[in-house]
Amino acid sequence: MVLDEREERVAKFFRKMKRTKCLPAHVAIIMDGNGRWAKIHNLSRSQGHRKGAERVREITEEAARLKIKVLTLYAFSTENWRRPQKEVDLLMRLLKFFLSREIKNLKKNNVRFECIGRIEELPPPVVKVIYQAKQETRKNTGLVLNLALNYGGRTEIIDAVNKIIKAKQSGQLTPSDIDEFGFSRYLYTIDLPDPDLLIRTSGEQRISNFLLWQISYSELLFCKKLWPEFSAKDFRNCILTYQKRKRRFGGI
Ligand code: IPE
Ligand code: IPE
Ligand code: MG
Repeated sequence: MVLDEREERVAKFFRKMKRTKCLPAHVAIIMDGNGRWAKIHNLSRSQGHRKGAERVREITEEAARLKIKVLTLYAFSTENWRRPQKEVDLLMRLLKFFLSREIKNLKKNNVRFECIGRIEELPPPVVKVIYQAKQETRKNTGLVLNLALNYGGRTEIIDAVNKIIKAKQSGQLTPSDIDEFGFSRYLYTIDLPDPDLLIRTSGEQRISNFLLWQISYSELLFCKKLWPEFSAKDFRNCILTYQKRKRRFGGI
């Protein structure tokens, strides 16, 4: 069988990857730079966000193809409500459109959809399509696509503390239940491993309130490319860079 160019590239990557270390189980991405990309191309910020949304499909498919277990994408932070109402509305509409359109594709690729964040505070039509995507993909056994929506790392920790107080008040908890593992069971990421690799596009080198607890030992990779131009090849290169890192977890 003749491999097309794309398949050949991926096969080459697999060969290279086999020579090095194992794949990250969980990759998290701060998808940043839609606005700057639009500005460079003389387009509106909305067009930048549309272009950015399109990248999600390619990167998700690539992650599924590489057999990565979890891909967490930061799509809307608790601080993003500070943007002009018009932009927030556009982002919400885009989210709803993107999700309802992608359900079919997620099913085809055996991807299970999950999300983290204060979902119930999102507009009801968005919440509805989120539940629909979760419901329709719940039996899929491949990649978990985890969208961070109305997500804030500090809010997540506060929400966990409040859940713990509630559990304590109803007598479901003893103090020894709260060690690091016990605490992490109250976070939004309850069933997910911590990210091995965190990528941020757009050249900014900050965390912007993303997965504060979970990234304590993640490898951080800051990539200059703006999110709308971040390709499957860039993603594979990030994985290769990760594989060259030496993780020590405090040991020697
Ligand atoms: C990331 O792109 C998308 C969201 C935060 C929703 P930005 O909109 O932050 O793009 P820049 O940082 O202004 O270029
Ligand atoms: C982080 O990007 C949030 C998302 C990608 C959803 P921002 O563009 O909001 O972050 P700051 O404001 O530059 O730190
Ligand atoms: Mg930004």
